[in-house]
Amino acid sequence: MPSLNDIRSTFLDYFAKNDHEVVASSPLVPRNDPTLMFVNSGMVQFKNLFTGLEHRDYTRATTSQKCVRAGGKHNDLDNVGYTARHHTFFEMLGNFSFGDYFKEDAIPYAWELLTKGFDIDPKRMLVTIYHTDDEAAEIWKKTGVPEDRIIRIATSDNFWQMGPTGPCGPCTEIFYDHGEHIPGGPPGSPDEDGDRFIEIWNIVFMQNEQFEDGSMKALDMQSIDTGMGLERIGALLQGKHDNYDTDLMRALIEASAHATSSDPDGPGNVHHRVIADHLRSTSFLIADGVMPSNEGRGYVLRRIMRRAMRHGALLGAQDPLMHRLVPALVGQMGQAYPELGRAQALIEETLRLEETRFRQTLDRGLTLLDEALAGLPDGAELPGEEAFKLYDTYGFPLDLTQDALREKGRSVDVAGFDAAMEAQKAKARAAWAGSGEAADAGHWFDIAERTGATEFLGYDTEVAEGQIVAIVQDGAPVERFEGPGEAWIVLNQTPFYGEAGGQVGDTGHMTNLENRDVVGAVADTKRFAGGAVFGHLTRLESGALAVGGSVHLTVDHARRGQIRANHSATHLLHEALRQALGSHVAQRGSLNAPDRLRFDFSHSKALSLEELARVEAEVNAYIRQNAPVETRIMTPDEARGIGAQALFGEKYGDEVRVVSMGRAETGKGVDGATYSIELCGGTHVTRTGDIGTFVTLGDSASSAGVRRIEALTGDAAFQYLAGQDHRLAEAALTLKAQPQEVPERIRALLDERKALMAEVAELRRKVAMGGGGDGGAEARDVGGVAFVAQTLSGVSGRDLPSLIDAHKARLGTGAVLLIAEADGKAAVAAGVTDDLTGTVSAVDLVRAAVEALGGKGGGGRPDLAQGGAKDAEKADAAIAAVETLLGELS
Ligand code: ALA
Repeated sequence: MPSLNDIRSTFLDYFAKNDHEVVASSPLVPRNDPTLMFVNSGMVQFKNLFTGLEHRDYTRATTSQKCVRAGGKHNDLDNVGYTARHHTFFEMLGNFSFGDYFKEDAIPYAWELLTKGFDIDPKRMLVTIYHTDDEAAEIWKKTGVPEDRIIRIATSDNFWQMGPTGPCGPCTEIFYDHGEHIPGGPPGSPDEDGDRFIEIWNIVFMQNEQFEDGSMKALDMQSIDTGMGLERIGALLQGKHDNYDTDLMRALIEASAHATSSDPDGPGNVHHRVIADHLRSTSFLIADGVMPSNEGRGYVLRRIMRRAMRHGALLGAQDPLMHRLVPALVGQMGQAYPELGRAQALIEETLRLEETRFRQTLDRGLTLLDEALAGLPDGAELPGEEAFKLYDTYGFPLDLTQDALREKGRSVDVAGFDAAMEAQKAKARAAWAGSGEAADAGHWFDIAERTGATEFLGYDTEVAEGQIVAIVQDGAPVERFEGPGEAWIVLNQTPFYGEAGGQVGDTGHMTNLENRDVVGAVADTKRFAGGAVFGHLTRLESGALAVGGSVHLTVDHARRGQIRANHSATHLLHEALRQALGSHVAQRGSLNAPDRLRFDFSHSKALSLEELARVEAEVNAYIRQNAPVETRIMTPDEARGIGAQALFGEKYGDEVRVVSMGRAETGKGVDGATYSIELCGGTHVTRTGDIGTFVTLGDSASSAGVRRIEALTGDAAFQYLAGQDHRLAEAALTLKAQPQEVPERIRALLDERKALMAEVAELRRKVAMGGGGDGGAEARDVGGVAFVAQTLSGVSGRDLPSLIDAHKARLGTGAVLLIAEADGKAAVAAGVTDDLTGTVSAVDLVRAAVEALGGKGGGGRPDLAQGGAKDAEKADAAIAAVETLLGELS
């Protein structure tokens, strides 16, 4: 009996043999369709190939595509587990032709694979075609299907559309007859809904495109899109009627039974079935980056998880159950989908956390539910308000309450639930209105309420499509905006990071998918309404963008890469500072821009060069370690429990993102194993090596007790270091030294300069004393007194008294006059030896000199006096004046 794994391989091998490219399943979160919650069929990843917008180097492909059908308006969640063929997760096998082969090959391929490859009895199969498709009928007949087994269907059942718009076309479906013992009629008959005839393969002849205005056009090329549910064909080939009896599902059911010590086929069977299905959808969603939350995709995930968890509790499991089943799932499906194994730890951790938390309220919620029911008349609906209370207080999604009531044959007043939800939103809004935010923020709050939060896809991709849900121009919401002009565009989902947590907003461009000539430049991305809504500041030169339209979004890749490197380097820097300075170091602010990073932290004194160098070296060592950067989701308490660094005073929600990087060297790191762990919503490099190089630009004071380090990474760091190197090389060249000798050479030059300065001062003094200098220093006889007069340049007034003393000592008896000019001023000093002070006063001599120089005053003692004037231009006149005075006095 072939296993599901065998069947998957047989299918892919068959088409590979027929020249089809085996393409990997795309992630469950669609990158190329903003209107779709999850990938729900094989053709989603090829959507643009059918319409001719995109080309690849193959025209035939085959896939086994992961699909989730849950959430959105029509979901079967409440049936899953109770029926034979409802799933939230399934695999769709498909073959595709993009303008290559058409009906005449697609039909024989399918028939050959079914009858020869899978060896299915042709007599047990019949086919349907679109009622006008004679061509398909002919091909089926030629292939060997008798006319009475070809059923024409006039309804949309045989005209396949991916959605309200997009590629579409008539289809042919292949049915298998499970036998007379099962009630039900062939397709098109009144009792076709019975379980006897099961559709196993749908082959779509893609030839049209449906547009928003209701029109339908023929596509330029004719293509093929097929879909066969692996679980269904598996059941058939394994001789089962119920998809849950196939080997793969059975293995999961048995794992659930084993983990709860219960009988897989006992009364708990339905619980095991729910758990088996939900284990698949939740694990694959987590592996593809979806995290439980209260909105959008994350909420669908949470609803599925919690539904499974309740069934686990119903089985009597005392401890969280779901995460213990992940190894069984990876064992079954990890080979076909390697992403599952890669994310195993994340899946287990996320499930365990969610179940631990949910269990804290589950029992109380169920008790409340029982009490509410007990107070109601028999069979009455549960009031919407009670269901809302369960949702709001105990975390019971509506479908979980419905599921619990189903067992009791009861239902919920859904309209009442919606009304209660609405009332709560209105209350939250009123509370917000009083919170004093800027008036124009009101628009954003309206938008957030109307459109829900923007879903951020940018952790995993920089390219995606989004739907325009609002436009704000000049502070007011508009339906449409035209270029040239600028407006804030709000999308339901986006790969653009909205400025937050110190990381700047992304830039890039958005292309109008309805008219690809219209391309807007996104200059910035910001978050509004408390962070819920992302606005893209978009400049249009021409053309228009309108609410409801779809756009293709591309983030500026190089810029984002630099931002990522800077943000991850900031985390390493934070930890390196804690290691070097102590655990008092806490983040006080940060900036992660494309060109640099800035990190403010609590520390009271400047870092020494040695500390800075140590920090820089450590960050670079962890960059070279090139360890993967890991992201997990946990509660704030759990995050703090493992030592994650959080921003002081910041409010965190129920769940936080925790980013870890680096394998800690002995004695380092927050938990002995990981170097850096931080709460962070930002985008990061994949491995630390992607940061490249890290260099600090130094440390400065930011505010009291807070230091600031600015730094560069990657190419900016390289350019900076290269520039430094270049300047050093230039200096070395000038000094005729090796670069490494430059500091020593400069120190030597400075020492030498100091010594030379001292020598110069000494020489000046000698020149002044030794005579022969300008102005002469020879003593002459003036009225019997030896008189020395001298003009000096480059000597300051401070030095004059000592020179006067030296002259006096040399003369033994006499008078001295010195006029010095320095710094644009003239200084005058006069000295008289003690034996003469009775007749001649130095004060008088100085005053006479100063006056002759055009100045005023001067003073001191009879043996030494000083004064000053504007300049020494009239030095000769001053000397003459002193000489005359001396002649008179003596
Ligand atoms: N796209 C087609 C389907 O989902 C094959 O049924």
